[in-house]
Amino acid sequence: MTPDVQAFFDTVTNTVSYVVQDPAGRACAIIDSILDFDHASGRTGTKSADDIIAYIHDNDLSTEWILESHVHADHLSAAPYLQDHLGGKVGIGKNITVVQDRFGKVFNEGTEFQRDGSQFDALFEEGDRFHMGQLCGDVMHTPGHTPACMTYLIGDAAFVGDTLFMPDFGTARCDFPGGSSTHLYHSIQRILSLPDDTRIFVGHDYKAPGRTEFAWETTVREQKALNVHVGAGRGIAEFVEMRDARDATLSMPRLILPALQVNMRGGRMPPPDSQGDVFLKVPLNKLWLWRIGRIDRMERSWIPGPGAAAVWLRGAGAGGGIMGASGTIGVRWRSRWFSGRAPGGVSGGLSDMPVAIHQTNEARAWTKPIPGREANRGTMHDACEDAWPFG
Ligand SMILES: [Fe+2]
Repeated sequence: MTPDVQAFFDTVTNTVSYVVQDPAGRACAIIDSILDFDHASGRTGTKSADDIIAYIHDNDLSTEWILESHVHADHLSAAPYLQDHLGGKVGIGKNITVVQDRFGKVFNEGTEFQRDGSQFDALFEEGDRFHMGQLCGDVMHTPGHTPACMTYLIGDAAFVGDTLFMPDFGTARCDFPGGSSTHLYHSIQRILSLPDDTRIFVGHDYKAPGRTEFAWETTVREQKALNVHVGAGRGIAEFVEMRDARDATLSMPRLILPALQVNMRGGRMPPPDSQGDVFLKVPLNKLWLWRIGRIDRMERSWIPGPGAAAVWLRGAGAGGGIMGASGTIGVRWRSRWFSGRAPGGVSGGLSDMPVAIHQTNEARAWTKPIPGREANRGTMHDACEDAWPFG
């Protein structure tokens, strides 16, 4: 089955939204919609969403699904607005709960912020299917850019969100919390194992150097042959090294703070205050440790003093692993989470709680002595599995 696909390109955020429709009927799905947002003035707008609504009305379509490929960090979702006007069910990947949990902490949300995905009508898992008219959609879990990224395969059309971009631009960044260039590589290999003629619709386009037009549609065949990051049989080691080094040079998306606060709520605004006014937060110095995600090893060594051990986290790749100022960090190492405050200070309570101190390209952490684990003396080289700011 070959669905009809109508793209809507937003030149402000370089995002592509899609209406996918059953050629034999009226059913359609909307993928990755946009609520316009002017950050400087705090003003929201619905022109992008209204364009989609007008298209659906003009073509007498029936909206069955409003899908999110992931929790976007570069634009706000218009899913609730579209649902109010068009109906349909809002769906996203089940790992939205992981994202909600993390950013619920970052934004210091209270208990009224549910972290169970209940803001959505459907939480998809790998292998799930959904229906729209005669069309059947297959859900693939394709993490790497974020832990909750999904690819929706509808007929011969794969909506890959921010996994692959156009072949001349490559792939999406992997340095958000829970992101992983290794996971992205494997996810992309799964997408590239689809039939060669599968149409691929990407979530953004930034015009690669030398290209004059925006583009968003390609095929598995083209990606396999030409993708500048993963094409021509590029191996995982080369990809991961390239991706991590490149991510180390990227700055935060312009709308990341408002986008996360809204999108983790399924596109809804935070609750109004007692006056009925709505505000978004700007947490200070809490996102900087995202850079820690590029740390590739943790060295733990004995240092003189009252039974203290030290942990050094060393950054990898261009630009180093850590930047920013103070904050509370979490580090997962050997499947255990450690937390501590940076810079300075000593955290009490838990044994084995490191306290990180920011340095130019290095965080240092002290732990309390661990009884019976003097073997921890000396230096170890271990992969730091994950790191992110605790709220
Ligand atoms: Fe994204």
